[in-house]
Amino acid sequence: MMIVAAAAAGAAMAADGIRIDHLGPNNTLVRVEKTDRYLLLPIQDSAEDSRIDVIVDGKVEKTLYARLARNKVDFSVPLDLAPYGDRKVLLSVTSPHSRASVREAQDDAAWKNITLSDTFDTSDREHKWRPAYHATPLYGWMNDPNGMFYKDGRWHLYYQWNPYGSKWQNMTWGHSSSTDLIHWDHHPTAIEPDALGSIFSGSSVVDHTGSAGFGNGAVVALYTSAADTQQQSLASSTDGGMTFDIFDGNPVITRSTEARDPNMFWHEPTGKWVLLLAHALEHEMLVYTSTDLKNWTYESSFGKGEGAQDGVWECPDLFPLKVDGDGAEKWMLICNLNPGGIHGGSATQYFTGDFDGKTFTPDRDAEGKVATKWMDYGKDHYATVSWSDAPDGRRTVIGWMSNWQYATEVPTMQFRSANTLPREVGIFTGPDGQLYASSAPSPELLALRGKPSVKNASAGLSSTPRTFRLPADGLCEITLDINAQKSKQVDLVLSNTKGEKATMSYHPETQTFSLDRTLSGVTDFSENFPAVTASPTFSDKNTVSLRIFIDRSSIEVFGDGGRFAMTNIVFPNEPYTTLSLSSKGGNARASAINVYPISAGE
Ligand code: FRU
Repeated sequence: MMIVAAAAAGAAMAADGIRIDHLGPNNTLVRVEKTDRYLLLPIQDSAEDSRIDVIVDGKVEKTLYARLARNKVDFSVPLDLAPYGDRKVLLSVTSPHSRASVREAQDDAAWKNITLSDTFDTSDREHKWRPAYHATPLYGWMNDPNGMFYKDGRWHLYYQWNPYGSKWQNMTWGHSSSTDLIHWDHHPTAIEPDALGSIFSGSSVVDHTGSAGFGNGAVVALYTSAADTQQQSLASSTDGGMTFDIFDGNPVITRSTEARDPNMFWHEPTGKWVLLLAHALEHEMLVYTSTDLKNWTYESSFGKGEGAQDGVWECPDLFPLKVDGDGAEKWMLICNLNPGGIHGGSATQYFTGDFDGKTFTPDRDAEGKVATKWMDYGKDHYATVSWSDAPDGRRTVIGWMSNWQYATEVPTMQFRSANTLPREVGIFTGPDGQLYASSAPSPELLALRGKPSVKNASAGLSSTPRTFRLPADGLCEITLDINAQKSKQVDLVLSNTKGEKATMSYHPETQTFSLDRTLSGVTDFSENFPAVTASPTFSDKNTVSLRIFIDRSSIEVFGDGGRFAMTNIVFPNEPYTTLSLSSKGGNARASAINVYPISAGE
């Protein structure tokens, strides 16, 4: 009787402990009447975002957006009820879908499937493509790595995270950390959206002298508070980056134009903190300085009209390096750009130059021009920034291994996106006398190598392919040295028994290296996905030495110790288990061929 009466008044049957009242075609109340840990929200990836106000004691405790399921449930995401204890929790849900009547709202799959639970299952349900040794979120959407710092033996990695779905939304700083840059421990959310907005990218520093007033060794983070406008806000942590207190004087930098992704560092010669801010739509980076991390003075700007300009400028970084490892000091300014990248969509460009604590002056070529330079020549390397306070003078970076062109459409759902492998950045002098960024796999990655299944092999190459077996699960690092000899092209093909393949080619005449993923597996989710990416090899020799890392859905190639890097994601229906080597237009030679199985990360 009770149920019938309630239904007549617009309520619907729901799981134990949940009461649902439909207030109209676009507004539904969800009452939680039992104290379980999680409310599991049923999500349909292709639905539109509903707005959910979480109301406790008559106040909106948080607002989130989730693609609540309409006609099918792809997966569920947990809303953690622990912060509200025994207090009653009410969700006011506003749907964006236009509906003729309440009845249509009642039919949504979300209401039949919403449940309470004391557990949330994060075990891997997408084994086929979830990387085995790259950082991924446990679940949900991820973009930029940010706020990274090293302290007390741990590499802390924060990332742009949507805890409530697998598309971009609800930007939150997710958190993981590692002692070896390979195995990542997942930690509770670090910084959640507040009344100033969601939490966009930023950076963290270890404030050794306590200059900001949070104590010696406090971790201080600056991020963009993103709402109708973008302003810069500060948070501090006195427990090594596990939890952050939002500063009550936020925002600490305000502007009337779109600016984001503050990246700060200590500049020893001037005794000041320096910050770069991406003046996104103006295609420039703004430089600020500070003595206390709270009060910032605008000093200069760099970039108008320089380098690649065909997209917004985002996620800056700036740091000194020694040319060729031990030469003069030069500064490298990283500028992530979207779109307008080397192969379309997003990519990381950089500038070399000098920095005096206030102004960045870029290097110019013989004609006085500032050349456009790319840090990675694949399609899937974005938002790359470095760890602050890395040990031994290292400049270690990590990027988001996707591209805004199709990141929200890639065929995974429990998690969406991984980070690249960590890399050590350097500056080298190219054959043209210009300075370039090198990007080499971090030394920790050597520990991934299992006993080689192909060891120090050599092969004369011709048009008839020489094949080598790869591990059955496809996870491996391949190393080899190629001498093109008289050939015009050397091909390295990764393939599986379904005929799917990724073809890498070395072109000695043009000194370029390419990767063709048009036949690599599932490619039809976006017209921008099938692609051939190409890179200069920055060499005037007839040889190239390669390290190729293959994970379940990525191929990363590093040439000649990192003089070029190429990162591409792939979605083969089964692992690539064969490597075929051949040459065109003459014979070539491959030597020092090693295949190291990789089993780490699981
Ligand atoms: C880059 C970016 C940043 C911004 C963040 C938001 O991918 O657009 O500029 O802070 O993503 O998630």
